[in-house]
Amino acid sequence: MRSPSPRQPCKPTSLGGRCEIGSIAFDGRERISARHYHRGVLHNGSTVTVRVPAKINIGLRVGPRRLDGYHGLSTVYHAVSLYDTVSVKAADAMRLTLTGPESTGLAADDTNLAWQAARLLAEHLAVPKPGAISKPGAISKPGFDLHIDKQIPVAAGLAGGSADAAGALLACHELWGLDLDAIELSGLAAQLGSDVPFAVHGGTMLGSGRGETVRPIAVGGSWTWVLALAAGSLSTPAVYAELDRQRASAQTASATGSPSAEPAAESDAPAPESDATVLAALARGDTDGLSAAAGAMNDLQAAAVALAPYLEDTLRAGREAGARLAMVSGSGPTCVFLAEAGTAEQIADRLRALPRCRAALVVTGNAPVLPAWPAEPGPS
Ligand code: C5P
Repeated sequence: MRSPSPRQPCKPTSLGGRCEIGSIAFDGRERISARHYHRGVLHNGSTVTVRVPAKINIGLRVGPRRLDGYHGLSTVYHAVSLYDTVSVKAADAMRLTLTGPESTGLAADDTNLAWQAARLLAEHLAVPKPGAISKPGAISKPGFDLHIDKQIPVAAGLAGGSADAAGALLACHELWGLDLDAIELSGLAAQLGSDVPFAVHGGTMLGSGRGETVRPIAVGGSWTWVLALAAGSLSTPAVYAELDRQRASAQTASATGSPSAEPAAESDAPAPESDATVLAALARGDTDGLSAAAGAMNDLQAAAVALAPYLEDTLRAGREAGARLAMVSGSGPTCVFLAEAGTAEQIADRLRALPRCRAALVVTGNAPVLPAWPAEPGPS
């Protein structure tokens, strides 16, 4: 079963040797099909399964609030080996079920981003492209039976909801036998959320725009991180709003001597540049270089700490236990610590003793989207 409309050639705009369409930038010569690019799907009869990783941000530079309400940013997205597993079966209606330790309290309905992702792809599938002749037997708005085993917390700065949306896109894309290219798929992903285009790819990528424009970058060596999962969550919009408030307050204080409670004015100022020293350290696999360059590079960190002051204790405890780098992940409240070989478990143990840390996990970085192989049958 193929797409109901003939493939339309994508027309890259040449931008100084790069092609930048929708939300993903590639070298001009790279016309990679989604099937080729997204190797992390597994067919098992009528079920398609994909494992999608959480992300951390190694450095997050945030510009002023834009006229559309988003903030321009520059970040290094880095997927880590904490996975949600998304499976889909063909169905007449739309259905979503959730299991796993991080599924408690999550809605399994059309407010869930994974549901929205599957529905968006189904709608995209049913809309004939200009000039397309529909084929007999072409599918239109298929249903889905989605299941997510949730290990990644949501509202935690780990893009857990975005990972599920990406998993649903990839799994449904395979189930419905589509042949969208990576750029089209990323365009759909960007409609779902700023982090979703990255979550479709995994690995390590430079993110710009509002986060939806992603480009692969070189990563040397292997990276071990400890994640401190907080007993609590933070809303991403609330953390951005707190950043605006802090910036406005600092600006007014420097102009008038007294702080203001108003949010910063909107601006069409250019998004921040990426930090070349962080990129170079990542490419070399250089822990010293990375810890020196990325130490204070999350612009959302102060805002997250203002809303959840206990994060200061978490960051301090990780540093004292020997972490080379301690930072809030994205908008928090997860804190992330770069560990040298042999120190990760001791850092995790120290974090687990904190009252506001509900779990500490040792993970490795640069994690790909993965096939989820069926479990070995147990002894009968
Ligand atoms: O893109 P996403 O839906 O994940 O964003 C959630 C919210 O986070 C936005 O509505 C906005 O308030 C904030 N945000 C932002 N700038 C970004 C990304 C997100 O202000 N670059």
